[in-house]
Amino acid sequence: MLMVMAGAGAQPAAPASPAALIEAGRYLAAAGDCVSCHTQPDGQPFAGGVAIDTPFGVIFSANITPDPGSGIGSWSEPQFARALREGIAADGRHLYPAFPYTAYSKITDQDVHAIYAYLRSLKPVRYTPPANRLLFPFGLRSLLAVWNLLFFEAGRYAPDDSKSAQWNRGAYLVQALGHCGACHTPHNALGAERHAEMLRGGVYLDEIADEVVDGVLTPLDERTLRAWSAANLTPAPGGLGAWSRDQIAAYLKTGHSARAAAFGPMSKVVVNSTSLLTDADVHAIADYLASLPPAASATPSTDADRRRAGEIVYTTRCADCHLPTGLGVPRSAAADPGKTAPPLAGSAALQAPDPASLINVILYGAHESGSSQGAWPKMSGFELSVGLDDAQIADLCTYLRSSWGNRAGAVDAAAVARQR
Ligand code: HEC
Ligand code: HEC
Ligand code: HEC
Repeated sequence: MLMVMAGAGAQPAAPASPAALIEAGRYLAAAGDCVSCHTQPDGQPFAGGVAIDTPFGVIFSANITPDPGSGIGSWSEPQFARALREGIAADGRHLYPAFPYTAYSKITDQDVHAIYAYLRSLKPVRYTPPANRLLFPFGLRSLLAVWNLLFFEAGRYAPDDSKSAQWNRGAYLVQALGHCGACHTPHNALGAERHAEMLRGGVYLDEIADEVVDGVLTPLDERTLRAWSAANLTPAPGGLGAWSRDQIAAYLKTGHSARAAAFGPMSKVVVNSTSLLTDADVHAIADYLASLPPAASATPSTDADRRRAGEIVYTTRCADCHLPTGLGVPRSAAADPGKTAPPLAGSAALQAPDPASLINVILYGAHESGSSQGAWPKMSGFELSVGLDDAQIADLCTYLRSSWGNRAGAVDAAAVARQR
């Protein structure tokens, strides 16, 4: 049979039957990571009530099951499409951009149609999420109309005909459904992505220290927030420059590659979203990321005293597993399974423009992602950093960020203090 690719290859052909449409919607909802924000850890699927923390306060996600009263059961498809792509609810309320409609605006009609069909097929759950807790004046939804005027450009993904179908598929997944920029792009003071610095590494608030219980990520009882930095995803030396496309794809599919392992909030993205993508789709994402213009590299520290102080801490506390060369020890090659570790040379997370995630992993440890079980053991931060003061950890970070070809800026003690 002859297959015809629609829409410059960014779109597979439209599903034929209602069941196939729902199945397509389930896949697209996974690619959009709706679960991470709309399902509480012990809650009903898609019933909402997940607290999203922003510098402006806490916003609770909505119930998107087809319950007519508390969910979106009474919403028509055009109303749903307007919410997803313009951030306006059925009753005309403006939605907060903590819900990434700024990215979802690029989703095609066909994909919105499938996601709608999938959500309609879910079990309706009667549940009303708690009221938002926002600082004045951010509780006024009418202000969002102004925000949209300033920062939001609605519009579908426009395929680039000069690029391959695979590249366009990757760009679509990253920019539209995957909303990678929500974390990986720097934001301005009003929480809008700075487009000129797309995917060059952002900072946002998230929980620390969740743990894996029976293969499921389980947050600690009390929510504890810290700044996290998401890596520079461009192929720069301080980003994914050292990664092959296969390594990027493997990381997205399994939470680890020969280059790194997800240890923080990225674990949730992997478990709920990227690990569920087909091999073709994670490779398409890798292809697209590898084609981005590389961000300019930072200037690593040349302060010999600080680097030497950091090297001493590294040698005594870290080099046993990560090796003096920073190259780490793959699980398969380790004589002692307790002494394996990913490489620190070429890690994009370690070199993120803001060092928050690097400091978090040293203070609180790494939390292996549910899907990377067995790749690396969990690294306990408490044991590693116990007794070290802010200045010592800052020197350690400065050393890591300026060694083995890593090219990221120095870290000061105040940055460590902020993460305590
Ligand atoms: C990063 C977190 C996040 C992700 C990912 C996310 N949402 Fe949401 N969503 C929210 C928040 C927060 C709200 C509530 C916004 C508000 O109250 O202004 C919301 C609101 C909505 C609404 C409006 C419902 C109403 O009653 O007002 C719809 C529809 C919706 N989301 C659908 C989706 C779909 C479909 C996906 C996946 C493709 C998704 N969301 C992914 C955070 C998220
Ligand atoms: C909720 C925020 C968030 C979203 C959404 C997100 N990331 Fe991440 N990402 C992070 C954080 C934080 C890290 C740092 C490591 C960690 O948390 O494990 C990271 C790390 C990474 C790394 C590895 C860097 C390293 O050296 O370890 C890659 C690759 C990556 N993300 C790709 C993506 C792609 C592709 C998408 C979109 C499909 C995406 N991320 C969406 C927060 C996010
Ligand atoms: C007992 C072995 C061991 C020791 C000692 C150790 N680590 Fe690790 N480290 C690991 C393992 C295993 C991982 C991967 C864990 C995961 O992601 O689930 C890891 C992950 C990391 C990461 C994340 C890298 C990435 O991009 O995925 C950083 C950064 C890191 N370690 C820094 C350090 C520092 C700094 C020290 C010393 C203070 C240290 N480690 C000591 C085993 C160790």
